[in-house]
Amino acid sequence: MDLKGKSVVVGVCGGIAAYKVVEVVSRLKKMGAEVDVIMTANARKFVTPLTFRSLSHRPVVTDMFSDPEYWEIKHVSLAQKADLFIIAPATANIIGKLASGIADDMLTTTVVATKAPVLVVPAMNHDMYANAIVQRNIRTLRELGYIFMEPDTGRMAEGSSGKGRLPEPSAIVEKACSILKSEQDLAGIRIMVTAGPTRESIDPVRYITNHSSGKMGYAVAQAARERGADVLLISGPAEVECPDGVRLISVTTAQEMEEAVLANFENSDVVVMAAAVADYRPAEVSETKIKKNGDEMVLRLVKNPDILKKLGTMKGNRILVGFSAETDDLEGNAADKLESKNLDMIVANDVTMEGAGFGTDTNIIKILKCDGTVIDLPLMSKLEAAHRILDEVRGLAYAAGDAGL
Ligand code: CTP
Repeated sequence: MDLKGKSVVVGVCGGIAAYKVVEVVSRLKKMGAEVDVIMTANARKFVTPLTFRSLSHRPVVTDMFSDPEYWEIKHVSLAQKADLFIIAPATANIIGKLASGIADDMLTTTVVATKAPVLVVPAMNHDMYANAIVQRNIRTLRELGYIFMEPDTGRMAEGSSGKGRLPEPSAIVEKACSILKSEQDLAGIRIMVTAGPTRESIDPVRYITNHSSGKMGYAVAQAARERGADVLLISGPAEVECPDGVRLISVTTAQEMEEAVLANFENSDVVVMAAAVADYRPAEVSETKIKKNGDEMVLRLVKNPDILKKLGTMKGNRILVGFSAETDDLEGNAADKLESKNLDMIVANDVTMEGAGFGTDTNIIKILKCDGTVIDLPLMSKLEAAHRILDEVRGLAYAAGDAGL
């Protein structure tokens, strides 16, 4: 990827992994980015500013109060020019300071002043990483939109093994590129995404559900967030972690999902219903565990609300996107749902195809639009598929905007 014209500010903290960040800076520079390095006082005990200066070809900022002629730039101008901020290695100390809003040196003041996305790459002793306060601080920052990379697991500098190693420089650069290339073309748009299965109780120990992993819906939420949207994710019990910067409401049953969706519909511009909502639930939920009496058991089911169909009757100018998981007549069934639920778009996939089934990281989708257009896409990662879906959503949103809706 060509990073010409992109400005990356790299904040280096005091940890042995600081030496690996030298390669991160070198790679970003080779890709054409303008790289400015800010080092904390402790970072300078591990690597010298001269190393970073030689690779970045720019003065390295180390001190808030040094002679401006030396480093030329005020912290505010660095904060403003950055397209991306990377903090690596991020120590427990810097994570704690940022989570508390402390700005007492050049690095923290610059991060507090920036509007650029901040990629935080922790590296520390595995017990420190697992510490409840550190984890709480990471959660706080994630909720505020800071982007975190998970540390690698393996042998640490002090000899023991565990989760806390800085990811490889190539992985950090790849993540940086994916953030830099994402356009903020959905900024200002409020998107509600539903994901995962629902779970319908039979008795205190059993329930009815389906094979949905939640990965597709979570990918849509992540992609929308990367593109600047304000994202609310309403999820049934899923196997995936909530993406950074996305608000999550966890639900269990279809009725709970309906309640949460309706409560937030008014404040949404776009709704993407990727959840695999159970169509039926047990008519009665036994308060005690049902015993196995006899060779047969009949379970009476009643219909759950069709959430999306209801939204279709009250959609106004909102954009409604449905999903259609099929095993046969993919296009025919999806087209029927598009019409009967009054949708703008439906994403259809044949779950029997290899690479398109439940739980996979890939999908093969067809996008059907209400103007009759059908977009047939090849096998791709769920994240890429999510971006293609959002490309179409953006097109519809811009068209609606142009029409003064
Ligand atoms: N959906 C919903 N509420 C339900 C069931 C489904 O909102 N009770 C949404 C899903 O999130 C998805 C779309 O509707 O976006 C799927 O349509 P649907 O006709 O319900 O699909 P299936 O449940 O697969 O229907 P069928 O069993 O008839 O194929």
